[in-house]
Amino acid sequence: MTSSTTIRRIAISTGGGDAPGLNAVIRAAVLSALSRGWQCVGIRDGYHGLLSPEQYPQGGLIPLTRETVRGITDDGGTILGTTNKGNPLHFPVTGPDGKVEDVDRSGELVRAFALHQIDALISIGGDGSLAIAAVLAKKGLRVIGVPKTIDNDLDGTVITFGFDTAISFATLAIDRLQSTADAHGRVMVVEVMGRYAGWIALSSGVASSADAILIPEVPYDLASVAKRIDRCEEEGQKYSIVVVAEGAKPRGGTVSVARPSEVGRAERLGGAGERVAAELEALTGRETRCVVLGHLLRGGSPTAFDRLLALRFGAAAIRALEEGRSGVMVALAPPTVNYVPLEVATKRMRVVPLDSDTVKTARDLGICFGD
Ligand code: F6P
Repeated sequence: MTSSTTIRRIAISTGGGDAPGLNAVIRAAVLSALSRGWQCVGIRDGYHGLLSPEQYPQGGLIPLTRETVRGITDDGGTILGTTNKGNPLHFPVTGPDGKVEDVDRSGELVRAFALHQIDALISIGGDGSLAIAAVLAKKGLRVIGVPKTIDNDLDGTVITFGFDTAISFATLAIDRLQSTADAHGRVMVVEVMGRYAGWIALSSGVASSADAILIPEVPYDLASVAKRIDRCEEEGQKYSIVVVAEGAKPRGGTVSVARPSEVGRAERLGGAGERVAAELEALTGRETRCVVLGHLLRGGSPTAFDRLLALRFGAAAIRALEEGRSGVMVALAPPTVNYVPLEVATKRMRVVPLDSDTVKTARDLGICFGD
């Protein structure tokens, strides 16, 4: 996990869904690298800039200089572009018969790094991107991973950047729904992102005083949510707020899928909130509306917490390279940032522990989990 190769030029890649703070990581990594005399390039759209350069008339690599990264700490998105299509380990290639096949292009990718005289890679991404980074490291590339996801479901780090921005926005949005829900005496169902883990729903739901929170970790029974809604009315609150993670599913049932998976692309979830809203309306007889926050949670400027965490991660990634590390992910282990092997970090998903104090707090506050 250490390498003594001299570094002259590094590449940075952002992969998977974007998260507020990506640009802050890029800025910190670039400035830290430049101060060590290393050149920096960014790969466009994950690894597409290297794997499909013909798609980029202006070149698949972006030179990263002090000027390129000036003033981007507070910008959402990523100046490099990103994609959750075209995983190099399962790259979709259309054959002459029109059939799409799954091809492993990781060897080709490692050769492309050598061709462009790139000595090391900073891969900023979620579970998918970091699993790719682990394979590249095994194939001999010097790689440092930086964990990113608004879902906060990566193991090995206490928190990922992007999560605080997402829950701050969700909390504000749910706060705003309270008055309109009250005015109409309605049940408001709010769907938030969170495919496999309910961190966003749990944190924003507790912070905004929701009445029920449905998360992937607890398959729900809507009869118990309906009872909670009845109790709200008995207690003098004529409206209710139900926060639903997109990956929540009924007991004995399955998640709501908007589009099935295909080669190189995960299934797209969608419809969990609408499903809960329709069933709750039928069960309670109360007028119900559904609001899907979706990608609004990924947009906008990162909070101060996420900016600082992202800057710390970016600078720590460069220190890791300087120390000769490879195949590791930077991770928050308060009060410091440390390094975790990529294989350990990507082994399993970090889901909400049901005995955690936040879940206990929610239950003490009377919040129903549909169980
Ligand atoms: O970043 C993870 C995530 O936010 C998931 O919660 C969600 O299912 C997914 O991204 C949606 O991504 P996209 O619409 O970009 O495919």
